[in-house]
Amino acid sequence: MKNRTLFVCQACGATHPKWQGKCEACGGWNTLQEEAPAPRPSGPAAKAGGGRRVEFVGLEGTAAPPPRVPTGIAELDRVLGGGIVPASAVLVGGDPGIGKSTILLQAAARVAAAGRRVLYVSGEEAVEQVRLRARRLGLEGAPLALAAATALRDIAASLEREADAALVVIDSIQTMWLDALDSAPGTVAQVRACAAELIRLAKTRGFAVILVGHVTKEGTLAGPRVLEHMVDATLYFEGDRGHQFRILRAVKNRFGATDEIGVFEMTDRGLVEVANPSALFLAERRGNVSGSAVFAGVEGTRPVLVEVQALLAPSAGGSPRRQVVGWDAGRLSMLLAVLESRCGLTLGANDVYLNIAGGLRIAEPAADLAVAAALTSAATDRPTDAETVYFGEVGLSGEVRQVAQAEARLREAQKLGFAAAVLPRRLARGGRPPVALDGLRLTETGHLADLVA
Ligand code: TYD
Ligand code: MG
Repeated sequence: MKNRTLFVCQACGATHPKWQGKCEACGGWNTLQEEAPAPRPSGPAAKAGGGRRVEFVGLEGTAAPPPRVPTGIAELDRVLGGGIVPASAVLVGGDPGIGKSTILLQAAARVAAAGRRVLYVSGEEAVEQVRLRARRLGLEGAPLALAAATALRDIAASLEREADAALVVIDSIQTMWLDALDSAPGTVAQVRACAAELIRLAKTRGFAVILVGHVTKEGTLAGPRVLEHMVDATLYFEGDRGHQFRILRAVKNRFGATDEIGVFEMTDRGLVEVANPSALFLAERRGNVSGSAVFAGVEGTRPVLVEVQALLAPSAGGSPRRQVVGWDAGRLSMLLAVLESRCGLTLGANDVYLNIAGGLRIAEPAADLAVAAALTSAATDRPTDAETVYFGEVGLSGEVRQVAQAEARLREAQKLGFAAAVLPRRLARGGRPPVALDGLRLTETGHLADLVA
């Protein structure tokens, strides 16, 4: 077969034999770009029979869990599963300007200050700019090795000579390029090839590599999604640029739990860890307004309380709008249908707006009950009790279902001074009755209609 050029979607990495306006794999428009195919392996090794024998071993062995390198930033360490694993590859993705360079410079400086060799390769900013940021963050004294470079051949050659590097930060992978490829920096082919080379070096030289990847909505730069399967862990940095909160979320982690989050606040001295996110997320809550309810959620191993806000407004005609920030739009439609047909709540031709205050994105179905409470409160114009938290999944017939980690949610509510909780029916487990918590009044509900009533 001759080496024909391919058209690669810059958003999802799917390949197409010819150019078309829309990528059928991910539905993106104008994301296809022509790329030369990767060269096929040649030489004796590529021929059948040329390989060496692979050694197979038993499952038993004495490999100790790899010792981790703590970054000294507790929120980051938790999301990583307890620090950086040597010889691992971590991808840190996020919108431009969200704070990726800031947190990685902070982490790199701390690891370096603890006596390890850390290299920071900036492909986006000049040395002077990085120094300026370091000075602003009060990190200029950290013994970090800094370079501004984008030619991966040079970077790889330098890393080959590093004897004891513990951590290498590449900021960003989209600016790196290999001269062996024709494609421009930032294309899927370049991003993949550069990442593969850096990961190979990390594994053979024993240092951990952190790759920064930008996510753009337009898909003009190769989305870090194409790298997710190559790395050991993928962390996404989320948040509103208008907000000071930043949430670091693990979406893949070979060495720890996923869906673990770290919460930070962007200040004029960089990103500061938030030890008690619930208090932060609820800080701006105003009591006694309708359309608000507090959800007792769990993110990873940590309970987090957030405020769910709902607003109903008369629709201007046509089909009513459903606008959601921080939650799933499909799930909102389902809940609205359940509220109308199972609980007799009339929402009529109202536009519905739903917002998770503070910029957190929630994926748990356990939020159903809190969302329903906020919607009901907005529809009836009666505030929910400001001292009550809600959690529970709602089924299509309106039944309230159990959710995981009820106890952790209740303890967090208790810790933050809430007086009551509305939750699914709890069952005795293994002959053990559900725990009672001092000072917390529990209302167990079996059906959403009870809540609406
Ligand atoms: P940056 O880390 O450069 O974002 P990214 O690498 O993800 O593109 O951070 C960008 C924003 O953070 C920028 O708008 C300025 C702001 N910032 C602060 O508010 N405080 C600080 O101490 C620093 C270093 C940046
Ligand atoms: Mg940056």
